[in-house]
Amino acid sequence: MIKPVLISVLTASLMSISDPVAANDDLDLVTKCSGFFVIPGASCKEIPRGQDILQNNCVSCHSVIDANGNNFLRHGGRAGPNLYGIQYRVFGGAEEARYSSGLKMLKEKNIPVTSENFLKYMTDMKGFLDEELPDATYSVKHKHRRNKSITEDIYQFLISLPEDG
Ligand code: HEC
Repeated sequence: MIKPVLISVLTASLMSISDPVAANDDLDLVTKCSGFFVIPGASCKEIPRGQDILQNNCVSCHSVIDANGNNFLRHGGRAGPNLYGIQYRVFGGAEEARYSSGLKMLKEKNIPVTSENFLKYMTDMKGFLDEELPDATYSVKHKHRRNKSITEDIYQFLISLPEDG
């Protein structure tokens, strides 16, 4: 017969193996939920709306991943730029991205990705580019056209992420 003390030791070690948070010391900033990181203080069941929208609408082309490799979306795509830290960038400003001529021209204009500009780009991309590049002929790689409420939730989520160290 197995003694009770041995059973509790066994249970404790099994729990630490199956618990991804306990198994990884680097996760003081974020919580890992089966390959998916949520912001500090949230539980695995409390995925913010903006994160959920990104996961369902943007992940085929975008990732949200910080410099330490913390990945805030599952299976992020690479056709579009990484959206992590976008509030500190200008449009067309992600170093690793291969942008269209339209976004390359926007980069020259140094337009910060503020909530207002993010909203314009996501809800009326053509209007935004035509306004900023009035006389230019340009192409874009993807026509983003989303409604205001979705866009605001996405931006709120992106700016809520912890800064990488
Ligand atoms: C089918 C692929 C695809 C999907 C889906 C997609 N995007 Fe994009 N996105 C791109 C590409 C490609 C670019 C680069 C655009 C260019 O070069 O013209 C881009 C650019 C952007 C930019 C400008 C970033 C920068 O660095 O200038 C933002 C912001 C953005 N996408 C947000 C989103 C969000 C939010 C969603 C989901 C609601 C989304 N995208 C869905 C492909 C996509």
